[in-house]
Amino acid sequence: MTRSIGDKVVAITGASSGIGEATARRLAQSGAKVVLGARRTDRLDRIVSEIKAAGGDAVACTLDVTQRSSVYAFVEAAVATFGRLDVFINNAGVMLVSPLGEFKVDEWDQMFDVNVKGVLNGIAAALPVMQRQEDGHIINLSSVAGHKVAPGFTVYCGTKFAVGAISEGLRQEAGPGIRCTVISPGAVQTELSSHIAAGAAKDAVDAMYATAALSPDAIAQAVVYAVSQSADVDVNEILIRPTAQNFF
Ligand SMILES: NC(=O)c1ccc[n+]([C@@H]2O[C@H](COP(=O)([O-])OP(=O)(O)OC[C@H]3O[C@@H](n4cnc5c(N)ncnc54)[C@H](OP(=O)(O)O)[C@@H]3O)[C@@H](O)[C@H]2O)c1
Repeated sequence: MTRSIGDKVVAITGASSGIGEATARRLAQSGAKVVLGARRTDRLDRIVSEIKAAGGDAVACTLDVTQRSSVYAFVEAAVATFGRLDVFINNAGVMLVSPLGEFKVDEWDQMFDVNVKGVLNGIAAALPVMQRQEDGHIINLSSVAGHKVAPGFTVYCGTKFAVGAISEGLRQEAGPGIRCTVISPGAVQTELSSHIAAGAAKDAVDAMYATAALSPDAIAQAVVYAVSQSADVDVNEILIRPTAQNFF
């Protein structure tokens, strides 16, 4: 059965800024009930208040995607609040770029914990609910960095290639009724690069983003496109770059 976007319950990880925030706002504008998760709950509370003031339906939940119990609680909160879960968006991510030779091994761990294990935790929590419903849609945020490798981005690219592989396996294994979409943005103006330690790698990323970066709402609109297709249409991947992006 095709549910219209206005009948859908959508949970979004990493909804306190950037692409996750813009996606929550766009989906709520389209009538979806949205569940926003992240660690900075003050930010989530403000976004939820603004969505509600504009006539939307939203709740905020504290979430750390690296903690499996936190992700299960997030999904349970969505189902307890709205009665079902139609779409789960694995959006939370970190991009801590540096050359391998700097051996920032704690940052390598953090990227795999959030970008890969966080996605697996999301699938583990959301898929059983969707299998019971015999209906659902998991959307995973990869990147152009999930298609191409560039010096300094090696570990980040490794996490995003993994997201692509996991998503394709999920598509094949999930069975009829459950859709899987990978969204792969190029440069988008968000807080993502602000967490890179000062130095040559951060300067290079900032210079790249200064030449071309999309608004997060451009990615949110791609999510709305994938979500709003009829139930038999599985949009498997959307790759979106700024027209002016000549790197990566
Ligand atoms: N911006 C780009 O150019 C670009 C390009 C390609 C792909 N992407 C991907 O798009 C996704 C969103 O990134 P963005 O660009 O919107 O960056 P952003 O503004 O930095 O947003 C990242 C979000 O992830 C959340 N997050 C980080 N660690 C978390 C954790 N342990 N548990 C829960 N939430 C966590 C952050 O929330 P809290 O800190 O409040 O927890 C924040 O809401 C990422 O997967 C990123 O890799 C971005």
